[in-house]
Amino acid sequence: MENGPVPRSRAGAVRHVLLAAVFLACSSQLLVDANSWWSLGLNPIQRPEMYIIGAQPLCSQLSGLSQSQRKLCQLYQDHMTYIGDGAKTGIKECQYQFRQRRWNCSTVDNTSVFGRVMHIGSRETAFTYAISAAGVVNAISRACREGELSTCGCSRAVRPRELPRDWLWGGCGDNVHYGYRFAREFVDAREREKNYPRGSREHSRTLMNLHNNEAGRQAVYNLAGVSCKCHGVSGSCSLKTCWLQLADFRRVGEFLKEKYDSAAAMRVGRKGKLELIDKRFNNPTPEDMVYIDPSPDYCLRNETTGSLGTQGRLCNKTSEGMDGCELMCCGRGYDQFKTYKHERCHCKFHWCCYVKCKRCTTLVDQFVCK
Ligand SMILES: *[C@@H]1O[C@H](CO)[C@@H](O)[C@H](O)[C@H]1NC(C)=O
Ligand SMILES: *[C@@H]1O[C@H](CO)[C@@H](O)[C@H](O)[C@H]1NC(C)=O
Ligand SMILES: *[C@@H]1O[C@H](CO)[C@@H](O)[C@H](O)[C@H]1NC(C)=O
Ligand SMILES: *[C@@H]1O[C@H](CO)[C@@H](O)[C@H](O)[C@H]1NC(C)=O
Repeated sequence: MENGPVPRSRAGAVRHVLLAAVFLACSSQLLVDANSWWSLGLNPIQRPEMYIIGAQPLCSQLSGLSQSQRKLCQLYQDHMTYIGDGAKTGIKECQYQFRQRRWNCSTVDNTSVFGRVMHIGSRETAFTYAISAAGVVNAISRACREGELSTCGCSRAVRPRELPRDWLWGGCGDNVHYGYRFAREFVDAREREKNYPRGSREHSRTLMNLHNNEAGRQAVYNLAGVSCKCHGVSGSCSLKTCWLQLADFRRVGEFLKEKYDSAAAMRVGRKGKLELIDKRFNNPTPEDMVYIDPSPDYCLRNETTGSLGTQGRLCNKTSEGMDGCELMCCGRGYDQFKTYKHERCHCKFHWCCYVKCKRCTTLVDQFVCK
């Protein structure tokens, strides 16, 4: 009986189970897509030393990795903490750059991180991909320099031509070359393993993500510069040692924010490639950001789009900008509160050398969107 042909009714049941399985696979596909390696920035990663015996658990326990990222995790376990740090740095910088806007880059939960709004191929989504890729380049490049990773060390960048001849080149620099390459491998892996038909929505979204990941990496790569230290008798600076150094990440954030402001609106063109909607503009370079969907207005809470809305947000009554109550509250109006603000004040310099301040409390007006 067990090995005989399957009776008709059971075949039907099997088909149902199969259909259910396909359905589950599809809906869990959506869930998987919502999860991202960005979650490494929110959930603490155990240091790999703890896993040396029976090495695999680290990678299987981390959530948000795609299949090929999981493989990279197994090869580069010691990198994972830094990828997490990079994601965290990126998210923090995103929140700083967008602190005065309706969409403020807030994280929704530990797995999907930014929630459903990332399903929209908007400028904001573009920025998020770019800044988190940048965070990874930044963290890995620095970790190499600090000797934390087994597969890289100090930068081996060639001496810049314009460096004065008597300055020494060769302090231990940030290995931005390695950071760039590793981030490309790791961050893009998730996009590259997909196999959507050319011209489909999903495929154009993949192209958008890849472009913005690259824009983020290039920002860190191109903003890295030469840093020098003086030597010589009693600070005479007769001798200088120079090396390659990452820019402060705030500068990367500001640079990418400009790229966000000038991001290019794209659509799927012939051959399934992205092309400019408005041909009067220049084609985006690899340093530029691109997007394929218009942004929602982010005014109201909407479960479908994942917009959190601006109800309860602080706004500035006198500002005409995005942080002004008119724009921030989308014309819904605002409530006024009085709150106490604590500040350092009456600071005095004492010889020598410290500053002593008092703590002042003032009553200030605050405005909150309805
Ligand atoms: C998310 O991660 C943070 C930081 O590790 C943790 O404190 C918090 O409990 C987590 N939340 C959930 C819902 O897992
Ligand atoms: C949420 O957004 C969608 C898409 O823009 C829109 O069709 C829908 O009406 C919105 N829902 C609510 C409750 O505002
Ligand atoms: C960002 O926006 C969300 C949703 O409106 C709000 O809960 C959060 O407090 C905001 N964060 C900051 C730093 O303003
Ligand atoms: C509000 O906006 C005005 C004008 O842009 C600015 O001068 C002021 O410092 C802002 N106030 C706060 C509390 O941010």
